[in-house]
Amino acid sequence: MTPIRGYVFDAYGTLFDVHSVVEAGREITSDPATLSTTWRQKQLEYTWLRALMGAYADFWVITEAALRYAIRRLGLTATEPQLRRLMEAYLSLACFPEVKPALGRLAGRPRAVLSNGAPAMLAAAVAASGLTTFLEHVISVDRVKTYKPSPLVYALGPEALGVSAGELLFVSSNGWDVAGAKAFGYQVAWCNRSGAPAEELGARADLVIDALDKLPR
Ligand code: 2OP
Repeated sequence: MTPIRGYVFDAYGTLFDVHSVVEAGREITSDPATLSTTWRQKQLEYTWLRALMGAYADFWVITEAALRYAIRRLGLTATEPQLRRLMEAYLSLACFPEVKPALGRLAGRPRAVLSNGAPAMLAAAVAASGLTTFLEHVISVDRVKTYKPSPLVYALGPEALGVSAGELLFVSSNGWDVAGAKAFGYQVAWCNRSGAPAEELGARADLVIDALDKLPR
C-alpha cells in the first residue's frame, strides 16, 4: 500500500453505533430492531433516489421521511413527540467502544469524517460522542448537494485534507460506500462489523477489518 498521509471515516455505522436509535424505538414497537433496519435501509434508499432524481434534501429531512415510511410500512403508529424522540436519538449517538483509542493512535495525520449526515447532525453526534478532539475535519455531503457514492462527495476528502485520494485511507462499515471510495481512488479499509459478504460492485477493499483498532498505524 502507498504510504498513508491521512484518514477519512464514514460516520453512521462506522464511528457511531446507531444501536441507541433502536433503544428509542422501544417506545412504539416490541420489535425495535426491525424498525431500525427498515428505517436505515429506507434512509439510504432515499439518498440514492434523491441523488439520481437531482432532488436533494438534507439527511435530516431524509431521515425523518424514512422514519415516517418505516412506521407506516410496519403498521405502527407514533405521536409527534415520539417521532421527535426517535429523531433526536440520531443527535446523541454513542461511538463504538474502540473508536476513541483507535483514532487516538492515528493522531499526527489528519483524521476526517466524510458523511451523508447534515452538518448540524454531524456536529451534534461528534460533540455528544466526545470525538471533537479526535477529528481534524468533519465534512458533510451538504457542501455538494448530493450523496454517496457520487464522486463529487468523495472529492471533498482530498480537497479538505490537501492530500491526494491515493494517499488517503477511507474507512467505512458500509460495503457500498467502500466500493464508491475505491472507485474514486482512495485506499480503502472495510470495517466489516456485521460479517457481511462483500458487495458485487466491481471494487474490493484493500484491507478488511472487524474493528477500527485493527487499522495499521
Ligand atoms: C454516512 O455516514 C450513510 O453511513 C453513511 O455517510
